[in-house]
Amino acid sequence: MPRPKLIPVKEPFAKDFLWGAATSAHQVEGHQHNNWSVWEASVADKLAKNARSRLINTVPDWKAIQAEAEDPVNYISGSAADHYNRYEEDFDLLKSLGCNAYRFSIEWSRVETKPNQYNKAALTHYRNMVQALKKRGITPMVTLHHFADPIWLEDKGGWHGPAVVESFTAFARAISKQIGQDIDYWCTVNEPGSYLLQRYLGGGAWPAWPTTVMNPSLGYKYLKNVISAHKSVRKVIKEANPKAMVGIAHGLLDYQLGRHDPLSWIFKKQLDYIPDTYILNRIRNDTDFIGVNYYMRLLIKSRLSSPQYWTIKKAHDDPANDMGWGIYPAGLYNITQKLIRYNLPLIVTENGIPDTKDNLRGKYINDHLAELARSISDGADIRGYFYWSLLDNYEWSEGFWPKFGLVSIDRKTKNRTLRQSALEYASLIKKYSA
Ligand code: FCB
Repeated sequence: MPRPKLIPVKEPFAKDFLWGAATSAHQVEGHQHNNWSVWEASVADKLAKNARSRLINTVPDWKAIQAEAEDPVNYISGSAADHYNRYEEDFDLLKSLGCNAYRFSIEWSRVETKPNQYNKAALTHYRNMVQALKKRGITPMVTLHHFADPIWLEDKGGWHGPAVVESFTAFARAISKQIGQDIDYWCTVNEPGSYLLQRYLGGGAWPAWPTTVMNPSLGYKYLKNVISAHKSVRKVIKEANPKAMVGIAHGLLDYQLGRHDPLSWIFKKQLDYIPDTYILNRIRNDTDFIGVNYYMRLLIKSRLSSPQYWTIKKAHDDPANDMGWGIYPAGLYNITQKLIRYNLPLIVTENGIPDTKDNLRGKYINDHLAELARSISDGADIRGYFYWSLLDNYEWSEGFWPKFGLVSIDRKTKNRTLRQSALEYASLIKKYSA
């Protein structure tokens, strides 16, 4: 049932609104041993060699990134941001910004090194992290799966295989035993749509992923499994903490018609449906909130002369970020408004910008928060905003050159420096929560 439109609220952000920043284990912790770390080593040279041809027509300033993008070391996650060892310092920085929430992921391969073999030190580590957050009055949001997989899971058939629902539930049970009662917000998985596209539908947005195949029937098995896994993990989490809010962080794009003809309309309908609407329709009674990862809008145009009969592109008018993605804050309004029909709380689990010079980030955050405020006034029940990312990190197959962090990190010394835009985010938090 769609909810009636509400009258605009004067103070859109509730007192207990979650003001946060996000990271994921593989991108920041350092020293992983999982399917990504193995794959990176095998493709770093290739990604460095084809960087120019891959990026020169996409990024606004190739010269500015060339040195890093053509260096094979850029593509190896290695020690990443060394967050595994420096999380206390990072939480101090987060706290200094006035943030009251932090979204991070638990690295499955670290915790369960072999099937049913749990690493005590890793479990203790995550418990300590949670305590360190709580000590600072920061609410943790835990993601149980953020793209990376244990190598042994691949051997058992991966996410499309017969064992994954049971394996993932067992892992969730182990985590829940350790920290379940302390965690009120959970994302079972991150961006199942990206995982589907990158692993099973030949890739797209990124240059490559480990074991990318074009196999829709495996993709369908993955979808079925990820939906069952979400439902079963939610039950396990609720056993330890009945009031826990358990959802999925969905990667949602604002697709718009670039040409008004029936074919473009059909393509847009499909993109809007697959896969997150498909997933949401199947979990809507088994989920406590909808996580929204929002980065850009894209325009859909039919074009019979192109091999796929359609094109999907950034709008000309949208300014480009360092990766060439269009900046379009109103998309966050559009998406959150569309989700009202599910009648569930929404949390912006990711929204951010790669901006090495830090010229655009402050305005980016300001404008996206303004759209969120507008959306709340127009009836969306939005409970939190997590900027992506707290730290400069390993941006999957693009490596380290894109700089998303509120905090910049010296690649050699790992010294942390708050960017100017982080202070702008801090003053927005102050203004909105006053
Ligand atoms: C999202 C991912 C996150 C990060 C941002 C830029 O799709 O969830 O890990 O890479 O994009």
